[in-house]
Amino acid sequence: MKEKPSYIIAITGASGSIYGFSLLKALLGRSFFVYLIISKPGFKVIRHELGMFCDNAYINEGASLNGFNVRIKDEIANKFRMSEYFDNFVFLDEDFLESRIASGSAKNVMGMAVIPCSMGSLSRIAGGNSGNLIERAADVMLKERKKLIVCPRETPLSDIHLKNMLSLSASGAVILPPVPAFYGKPKTVEDIVGFITGKILDCFGIENDAYKRWSGYD
Ligand SMILES: Cc1cc2nc3c(=O)[nH]c(=O)nc-3n(C[C@H](O)[C@H](O)[C@H](O)COP(=O)(O)O)c2cc1C
Repeated sequence: MKEKPSYIIAITGASGSIYGFSLLKALLGRSFFVYLIISKPGFKVIRHELGMFCDNAYINEGASLNGFNVRIKDEIANKFRMSEYFDNFVFLDEDFLESRIASGSAKNVMGMAVIPCSMGSLSRIAGGNSGNLIERAADVMLKERKKLIVCPRETPLSDIHLKNMLSLSASGAVILPPVPAFYGKPKTVEDIVGFITGKILDCFGIENDAYKRWSGYD
């Protein structure tokens, strides 16, 4: 059976998890299948910024507990109104290294975005750690020469952060900081988030009108 073209989205413990969910909705709306991974610190930041996952068990016990995957998907689908896409994405625990996306043999995976990417995950991906499913899946993208988009979120940046970005870029990753432009005159948070979503879709080569493009003065 031919599997659906798919993308991996990893949400780590940096500020701006809303970007990850916006990308999830955009890919699902374009009929792609999505493997979603959220790091344990990612759950904490999402709880703080978006008021989701308030059950302590998500954080204390890990998300791999029986039944949790469905509860996590339920909460995401309700919050972002994506119930119609419920069967088109899976949530994977960061410790689930047995997942098919931990291997280069998953040919249906076209690319991966780490959005937002913490400086911790950035460093571990740049170092080839492969210690959790996010790091391993990113490592697989690089070794298979598939598109890996890393959206680092921190400010200001230290030499260490910059060196890790340069090292990842030299290894083939696209470094796409979630830095919005204002030439499209955004009016809402959705406009600002949509700009970054559109830029990522552009990078994946997926047609979109998620943001207002600069059309020039002439
Ligand atoms: C509310 C909150 C916001 C954070 N924002 C950032 C951030 O923007 N960038 C960053 O590198 N770390 C940030 N951190 C720290 C990371 O969550 C922390 O370094 C964590 O270990 C990253 O782990 P991960 O890469 O496995 O997700 C934040 C932490 C909290 C609690």
